[in-house]
Amino acid sequence: MKTRTIEDGKAKRKPAAQAKADAVAKAKAAAPDLAARIGSAPKTKFRGDPDIFGRLVEDHDRHRALLAMIEETTGKSPDREAVFQELVKELKAHAAAEEQALWSTVMRDPATTDDARHAVAEHKEIEDMLADLAARDMASPGWLRRFAGLKDEYLHHIGEEEQKQFVAAEKHLQSADVRYMRGVFNRRKKEEKAAAKVEKKIKLKD
Ligand SMILES: [Fe+2]
Ligand SMILES: [Fe+2]
Repeated sequence: MKTRTIEDGKAKRKPAAQAKADAVAKAKAAAPDLAARIGSAPKTKFRGDPDIFGRLVEDHDRHRALLAMIEETTGKSPDREAVFQELVKELKAHAAAEEQALWSTVMRDPATTDDARHAVAEHKEIEDMLADLAARDMASPGWLRRFAGLKDEYLHHIGEEEQKQFVAAEKHLQSADVRYMRGVFNRRKKEEKAAAKVEKKIKLKD
């Protein structure tokens, strides 16, 4: 598919259902045989949009699928290992690129500083939870329980971005900015993902 750029200015909106299906298909590449039961992801007007927010929601749907796929796995299986590795790299690269492409700009506007600060603070919490999970035995009975905690936290984070922080940020950005930011995000995400490491560090108490 042709990469959309600000220069061509012809990027089209994708139907929401198609955008979601494409995102799930990307997640499934990590373990094609696993079901990705993401159910009805919360509605957002940004799903399928040819701008930064549509691009971010595409990743969020991909992450919803990866989270659901891990729940289909058992013990220390190759599938659980593969999907968890992919999830960690995806989430870290997405968060870093989102900060670089969107939140850094949003933070500079006093009207939206708090929204950006909130999103970035949650990124740190999520990264700590991922490092904690990576350091623990995947075959232990507690692993899935801890994973469920991460899943809740992440779904809350992306739900809040889609329903609150993106909505507020959009009001204060020019439409040329949100198109341009999509290109910045794509470049940064690729580089961040290539460099992403799965850190292992027990950080959380029982
Ligand atoms: Fe985020
Ligand atoms: Fe996000």
